[in-house]
Amino acid sequence: MNGSTQLIGQHPLVHRVRGLIKRVAVTNATCLILGESGTGKELAAREVHAQSLRAEKPFIPVNCGAIPADLLESEMFGHERGSFTGAIGARAGMFQLANGGTIFLDEISEMSPVLQVKLLRVLQDHEVRPVGADRSSTVDVRVVSATNKDLAMQVERGLFREDLYYRLEVIPINLPPLRERRSDVPLLVRHFLDRHNKKRSDVDVTITEEALVHLWEYDWPGNVRELENLLERLVILSEDAVIRVENLPANVRSFISENKIPKPVMSDEGLDLTNAVEQFENRLIDEALRRTKGNKQAAARLLGLKRTTLVAKLRRRRGGPVVASDMTGT
Ligand SMILES: Nc1ncnc2c1ncn2[C@@H]1O[C@H](COP(=O)(O)OP(=O)(O)OP(=O)(O)O)[C@@H](O)[C@H]1O
Ligand SMILES: [Mg+2]
Repeated sequence: MNGSTQLIGQHPLVHRVRGLIKRVAVTNATCLILGESGTGKELAAREVHAQSLRAEKPFIPVNCGAIPADLLESEMFGHERGSFTGAIGARAGMFQLANGGTIFLDEISEMSPVLQVKLLRVLQDHEVRPVGADRSSTVDVRVVSATNKDLAMQVERGLFREDLYYRLEVIPINLPPLRERRSDVPLLVRHFLDRHNKKRSDVDVTITEEALVHLWEYDWPGNVRELENLLERLVILSEDAVIRVENLPANVRSFISENKIPKPVMSDEGLDLTNAVEQFENRLIDEALRRTKGNKQAAARLLGLKRTTLVAKLRRRRGGPVVASDMTGT
């Protein structure tokens, strides 16, 4: 279990998610949490439970992708003694254990078609039947499920039951990828630095502005989890208590230059090299100034130049520098 049950973020998309969670938590509505890997789906599910009237009752996570298909049914619904080889005694399933509380069906897209039918029945009748039992019993369980797959697409392809899909997604909660809410990166960095600093008794590790800019610009395919793991590693490995650009992994360090600066193209007629190089240089300078909010000292550091050299380049420039005054958008 995670130490924090708070979804951190000030981006409007996160505000929207928190607002939605608050509104649906107090109902018994079934929620489907959607989002890429590491966007906080499990955190959101725990939040739905924590803010509900069921908070004092159990929250039971079931990873439908990690449990072998032939075991999942008895894991979920329990089994009677002797109902299959190895079933020595009767055992309650996750649904019985979650009674009064919430069951979290993670990676729901991985559930077998046979089990999908059985789950649908539970959602309709609020009754579960253990494997090998001849009677069902009533349960009061709120179902929250999650997937990083495109479940609607799976329905279209006939891989997931449409009727179950509609039952599960009464309230869809979409978690945005981190790259769509980059403005939350500094906040998350602070949060994870604080968390991991607690594990180091000797120093408080900090991060330079410049390194933070790189974290801001990076694409984060593994989303918040990737950021969290990276910061944990950086805090543990930091020797002088400051995280600098040099300490960042190569893919994060090179991301800006590889992805943000358009590559010059040579047409059939060739190109004016001096002019092309100058344009390329100007673009990088503008980018550095934009990222440092116009701070020439910091921009020069980003570019590996002395401040005076950068100032001279700016003076020589035709048309003058273009400095975006803010780091807008995501
Ligand atoms: N908004 C957030 N604020 C604080 N921590 C977060 C946030 N989102 C995610 N995390 C943290 O990132 C890690 C990954 O989150 P979580 O396990 O909920 O993601 P997930 O969407 O379930 O990922 P997966 O699809 O890979 O299972 C956790 O340690 C979680 O605490
Ligand atoms: Mg998860």
